Amino acid sequence: MDARLSQDPFAEDRPSTVPEISIVIPTFNEKENVTELVRLVTAAMTGVRWELIFVDDNSPDGTARAVRELAAADGRVRCIQRLGRRGLSSACIEGMLSSSAKYLAVMDGDLQHDETLLPMMFDALQSGDVDIAVATRYADGGGTGDWDARREQLSRASTGLAKRVLQVELSDPMSGFFAIERETFLGLAPKLSGVGFKILLDLFASADPPLRVREFPYEFRSRKAGETKVDGMVALDFITMLLQKRIGRLVPPRFVYFCLIGGSGLVVHMLTLWLTFDVGGVAFAASQAIATGVAMVGNFTLNNLITYRESKLSGLDWFRGLFLFCLACSVGAVANVGVAAYLHGEGTLWLLSGLAGVLVSTVWNYAATAFYVWRVPNSAR
Ligand code: GDD
Ligand code: MN
Repeated sequence: MDARLSQDPFAEDRPSTVPEISIVIPTFNEKENVTELVRLVTAAMTGVRWELIFVDDNSPDGTARAVRELAAADGRVRCIQRLGRRGLSSACIEGMLSSSAKYLAVMDGDLQHDETLLPMMFDALQSGDVDIAVATRYADGGGTGDWDARREQLSRASTGLAKRVLQVELSDPMSGFFAIERETFLGLAPKLSGVGFKILLDLFASADPPLRVREFPYEFRSRKAGETKVDGMVALDFITMLLQKRIGRLVPPRFVYFCLIGGSGLVVHMLTLWLTFDVGGVAFAASQAIATGVAMVGNFTLNNLITYRESKLSGLDWFRGLFLFCLACSVGAVANVGVAAYLHGEGTLWLLSGLAGVLVSTVWNYAATAFYVWRVPNSAR
């Protein structure tokens, strides 16, 4: 029998539609931009078999619906819609994992990235001389368009920090526009932290040996429709990633935030106690109870905003979460007192007994709330 037939009996019937490159587009509220994006990519990528994979985090403006309409008219367009999750990096990772093309690219969905670079980036990868092609704003011929001075400064400062802490030699390590061979990406994927915006930095920080890179300067375009999602939380995402790369194997960054917030809860508690008891003249036991309540609500609110910002609870879920949080922490408090009292009874120094109690309850509170309140399956992240 013909060897080729025995391997793939349908080879003859199959048109050559398999994409050579998948372009992954993370989107959140980009409905006004996706049609134009498909048009521009189509125009830029003539002669290449491409596909566009939009990864939308259930945008309230209906981006996913708009993408599906485009996909219904053009089989090269696909939509992955994620429910109950947010995050640029994790969206890009999932999009790339869903591809079986030999090459992958990641590009923003708001038309700020110059899609006419794509064919050159694709060629560079195909030549085999580079592992990754990166579009950069900070090399000759590139620029940040109409960014204001503050944003420009912030970006340059974090670029410098990233270069120093992670020893990455890139003119624009925060770029969200790059192309990479799928096999290279798959090798790195398990090591990625997946937090925040900095997918490229994450890839470089995870690569050993270092990736061979070629940079492609371009001028960042200004946004015409929709708005940026880059806000103060991005700085936090950035710090989280540095923490993850440096100490993540020992202590999850989330645990660090949880403990810091727990510590701030003590300050809130003492302030409230002072206000109610000392200033307000409320009975001590009542004051202590009020202070405990305020600290718990404060801790829950901060953890919801910071530690679990990617699975933030709102509306009714916020109240259900608060209830479960208080319940879990009450169990933690009982364990705390139990362990401390036991150790003290066995003759351990009061200071050590007390600390052991706090440690046990902190770890319990962290694990229990990650699982029951924010429903994070892998609390190590
Ligand atoms: N799926 C998903 N989930 N997509 C998101 C999310 C999210 O949580 N947040 C943002 N996006 C999408 C946006 O819809 C857009 O297509 C792209 O990611 C970039 O987001 P912008 O909000 O437009 O970012 P920017 O233009 O301000 O930031 C640019 O510079 C950063 C570095 O300073 C981008 O190029 C970033 O990729 C880059 O890291
Ligand atoms: Mn943008």
